[in-house]
Amino acid sequence: MKLHQIISQIAEQAFAQAGLAGNPIVLQPAKSAEFGDFQINGVMGAAKKLKQNPRDLAVQVADILKQNATFSSAEVAGAGFINLRLSPEFLAQHLSGCLKDKHLGVEQATQPKTVVIDYSSPNLAKEMHVGHLRSSIIGDSLARVLGYLGNTVIRQNHVGDWGTQFGMLVAYMVEQQAHNATFELADLEEFYRNAKIRFDEDENFANTAREYVVKLQSGDETVLALWRQFVDISLDHAEEVYRKLGLLLQREDVAGESKYNDDLQNVVDELVQLGYAVDDKGAKVVFLDEFKNKDDEPAGFIVQKQDGGFLYSTTDLACIRYRVRSLKADRIMYVVDTRQSLHFQQAFAATRKSGWLPENVLAEFIGFGMMLGKDGKPFKTRSGGTVKLIELLNEAVERATALVREKNPDLPAETAAKIGTVVGIGAVKYADLSKNRNSDYVFDWENMLSFEGNTAPYLQYAYTRVQSVFKKAGEWNTQAAITLNEPLEQQLAVELLKFEDVLQSVAETSFPHYLANYLYQLATLFSRFYEACPILKAEGAVRDSRLQLAKLTGETLQQGLSLLGIETLEMM
Ligand code: ARG
Repeated sequence: MKLHQIISQIAEQAFAQAGLAGNPIVLQPAKSAEFGDFQINGVMGAAKKLKQNPRDLAVQVADILKQNATFSSAEVAGAGFINLRLSPEFLAQHLSGCLKDKHLGVEQATQPKTVVIDYSSPNLAKEMHVGHLRSSIIGDSLARVLGYLGNTVIRQNHVGDWGTQFGMLVAYMVEQQAHNATFELADLEEFYRNAKIRFDEDENFANTAREYVVKLQSGDETVLALWRQFVDISLDHAEEVYRKLGLLLQREDVAGESKYNDDLQNVVDELVQLGYAVDDKGAKVVFLDEFKNKDDEPAGFIVQKQDGGFLYSTTDLACIRYRVRSLKADRIMYVVDTRQSLHFQQAFAATRKSGWLPENVLAEFIGFGMMLGKDGKPFKTRSGGTVKLIELLNEAVERATALVREKNPDLPAETAAKIGTVVGIGAVKYADLSKNRNSDYVFDWENMLSFEGNTAPYLQYAYTRVQSVFKKAGEWNTQAAITLNEPLEQQLAVELLKFEDVLQSVAETSFPHYLANYLYQLATLFSRFYEACPILKAEGAVRDSRLQLAKLTGETLQQGLSLLGIETLEMM
């Protein structure tokens, strides 16, 4: 349910009745539960405008709100705030609705949007490293949330599968295959390094590599087949990482740079014909008034180099056009490292100008900061190299498994490994998703694997605690009515009803940490409720009602974590 919206509408009516129609209502969650559940902050502004006493006006509005069965109290505080407490009947009725609904009361979009999300998008010349982690998991979580709200989500993995490096890599692959019939490309990183060494030290090899680039560009079938072979192997590597991370991304979602090759010349020609791209020292450039260079002149966005070659930017222009025309996107999201922000702002501006990105299509750059080591510097291996993503994930699983065995030495090895996988991967994802993506964050094993604080293990454990209640509960009336008498029952109820509001704000702002923080708050509240309001020791209707609250809490935690791409376990 859209709790915030429902209360806002009621407040709006009350404002109108009190003669304040049209004045903005500032509705916020209460600062602390002792004051109520929500606070209205808009009366003061209205009073000022109307030159009336804010307190008198607030009393009037509060008196109207008190009549509404939604609230059990509406109290004026300070000069004109109104503290609202939701009535137990209202809460109980909506909780029952959520329990009966397979979407936990979250409404499906009445006007679903087609949302294209560009995420992960590694360069296939090399192996995935930690720099690809954030895009992969932030993008995946946004895809899940937007889909859950009823939108049509189209995932696009814009892999870097084209460019001069591929000539070198294919040449090296051919050379290796000639030497060794059973050659297998197991370590991409090492392969790239060795190919580069060959390229730098052997002129003949370098010439072959260049020849391959030319052949690739002219569509030579033999070299293209070799290139495809290389790309496939590299994608297999990426998919191993995706499986380990539990991402939604599939092979069908791959729409790499090469997909747009045939359209690049058209893009440039059309921009020139339309008069948007002009010749600048032999290169084709779109000048954008919105962006100024250091001499305060419109910045140039190069779409074709002097030598006729195309660029990363040309591809993105073709790609935007494709996503609008063929994929029929209403919204296009790019989950990419903040350092590419300017590139995308310019690509959006250029395609707005040319009409390829119409006003009614939203284009968003969803940037993110860096992953840092404990020393506050970019995350590296001990020897200063880039950390391979697969190795990082393996380490997470190993560490978590060791921790699980330490806590519970009697677990069979297989069970410990299963739990360790879910906890380890969950910990890495949650540590990232629970922070504001715009900031850099410190990657710290001890913190993320801790069972206390705002971590995945804490939340996963909270979920198993809820489940253990049901293991002990025996038969109970799953249709029982909910009655909320204790303050903590009511607080938990209010929190449960905020689920959809939180998902909506994640969808709007693309900040998954709103969901993470909500789940943490929910889990903390549940454990306070659990302490204060015995479930299994209670009797009759009270026991059943508390079991209902526990049930919805468990389901919300599980669903919420799953929207972050994090698994839960029935026991740990
Ligand atoms: N492959 C690029 C990189 O690793 C990211 C691609 C992002 N998406 C795009 N449409 N340009 O930096």
